[in-house]
Amino acid sequence: MPARKKIIAANWKMNMTVADTETFLATFRRAVEGVSGVEIVIAPPFTSLPRLSELLGSSQQIRLGAQNFYHEKPGAFTGEVSALMLRELFVRYVIIGHSERRQIFGETDALINKKVLAACATELLPILCVGETLAEREAGKEKDVLRTQLEGALRSVPEEDVLDAVIAYEPVWAIGTGVNATPEQAQDAHAHVRLVLAELYTEAVAKKIRIQYGGSVKPENAASLMSQPDIDGALVGGASLEARSFAQIVRAALRP
Ligand code: 13P
Repeated sequence: MPARKKIIAANWKMNMTVADTETFLATFRRAVEGVSGVEIVIAPPFTSLPRLSELLGSSQQIRLGAQNFYHEKPGAFTGEVSALMLRELFVRYVIIGHSERRQIFGETDALINKKVLAACATELLPILCVGETLAEREAGKEKDVLRTQLEGALRSVPEEDVLDAVIAYEPVWAIGTGVNATPEQAQDAHAHVRLVLAELYTEAVAKKIRIQYGGSVKPENAASLMSQPDIDGALVGGASLEARSFAQIVRAALRP
C-alpha cells in the first residue's frame, strides 16, 4: 500500500491582513522552493482567500484551505459563507469542528456532521478536528471523547468521501499553550482514532486516512511528532504565522 502523503496545514485563525498574507507568501515560497512529496495547505481568514487564491494560481505545491463555512445552500444566513463560495475561489480543504468553534461558537457534533456532509457534497475536503480537554484527559476519558466526536461527525458519511477527508487530532490543552502532546501521547491518540475509523469503516479504509496532529507544533518538535507511525502531518496555529517557521515545519515532514 502506498505510504500516506504527509499534509502540513496552516490555520491562521483570526490573524493576518491581506498585506500580511502577501508578505508571508513571498517569503514562504522561497523557503519551500523545490520541496515536494508533502502537501501544504494554508487556511487564511476569509478576507485573504481571494488574494491568496489569485497568488497561488494553479499551484500543485500549496493548496488553499478555509477555516469554516456554513452548510446550508445560499440564502438568509447573515454573516456566513457557503461551500459554493469557497469552491469559486478554488478552496480545496475546509477545517471543520475546530475546538475554538466548538467551545466559543457552540458547534455540536450534529452541526459538525452537517458541515462534513455538505463539504463532501461540494467537493471540499474536510479537515475534521477532534480532541479532548484537559479535564477529560485527567478523568481518563480522552478515548471515549474521540470516539464520540468521530462517530458524531462522520454519521452517514460514505466511504468514498471519508477517504478524502483528513482527521486532525488536536488536544485542547495543547492548543496555543506551548505545551504539545508528547510524541508518545499523540501516537497513542492517533492509533485510537485509526482504530475507531476501522470500526466505522474498514481497516483498509482506516489505513488510508491521514491523521494530523495539532497543538503547539513548532519547528523544534515537528520532526519527532511526525516520526510516529500514525502521525501523518500537522495542523499548525501560532507557528504558521511566520513564513520561515512554517517552512521549517514543512521540511520536518520530509525527514524519515
Ligand atoms: P497552535 O499551533 O497555536 O497551538 O494552534 C493549534 C491549532 O489550533 C491549529 O488548528
